[in-house]
Order: sequence, then structure tokens, then C-alpha cells
Amino acid sequence: MKRSSQIKFWACATALLTTVNTVNAGDLVAGRNKVEMMCQNCHGLNGVANLPGAANLAGQQDEYLRRQLKAYRSGERQDPVMGVVAKMLTDDDIANLAAWYASIKVTVTDPE
Ligand code: HEC
Repeated sequence: MKRSSQIKFWACATALLTTVNTVNAGDLVAGRNKVEMMCQNCHGLNGVANLPGAANLAGQQDEYLRRQLKAYRSGERQDPVMGVVAKMLTDDDIANLAAWYASIKVTVTDPE
């Protein structure tokens, strides 16, 4: 796909997401902006971690991402780094971040 059509696709997909989903729907653009500010140094913009010990988040389940972020925020799941990061996130931030990472397409290859 050419870059221009990719941009059109994303603009379209985002417009669709924001109109179709009203309650608690992840906004991809807002999610991406947050990732750039708060997550990409460790988890990568594309969800492939660049810090040893940080999880790959690309293509992870939306529901799972939301649950983990809320668990770090409440202290139900404990980690010194993610505990601090998650406390800065609102419910909307969490929905947007989960939407971004969950929407990244991944392919897997079984071990030979
Ligand atoms: C300074 C590095 C750092 C930053 C910044 C950071 N993380 Fe993490 N993240 C980690 C580490 C390390 C872990 C593994 C923690 C553990 O073992 O529970 C982790 C774990 C997670 C997990 C759990 C993954 C799983 O498989 O259960 C999620 C979800 C997550 N981070 C999302 C985010 C999001 C979203 C942001 C930005 C708002 C962010 N992180 C910012 C380092 C970071």
C-alpha cells in the first residue's frame, strides 16, 4: 500500500471507530499520541519491546491490555515501573492505549 493510501486508511478507520463506538471505545489517534509520550521508550511504538524485561504488546488482546493496566493502577498487579506509569492513566487513556496496541497486526510462525 502506498503511504498516501495508508494515511487515508487510518484516517478512515479512526473516523469509523470514533463514530461507531461511543462508550469507552479506544481512539487510535489518541492512543498513538499517548504511546509516543509515555510507552514507546520501553514497549516501542509498534509494540515490540526495546527494553529487556518489558513485554511485547503488539497485537495483544484489547481486553487483556485494559485489565493489566487497571490492575497496575489499583496495585492488584505489582511492578515498580508500571505501577508508577499506570497511576497517571485515566480510563479513557487505558481504552485508547489498548486500542492502539491491540490494532497492530502481527503474524506468528510455529517453531520448526
Ligand atoms: C520505563 C519502561 C516502561 C514504560 C515507560 C512503560 N512500561 Fe509497560 N512494562 C514495563 C515493564 C518492565 C513491564 C513488565 C512488568 C511486570 O513484570 O509486571 C511492563 C508491562 C506492561 C504490561 C503488561 C504486559 C503483559 O503481558 O502482561 C502492559 C499492558 C504495559 N506494560 C503497558 C504499558 C503502557 C500502555 C505504557 C505507557 C502508558 C507503558 N507500559 C510504559 C516497562 C515500561
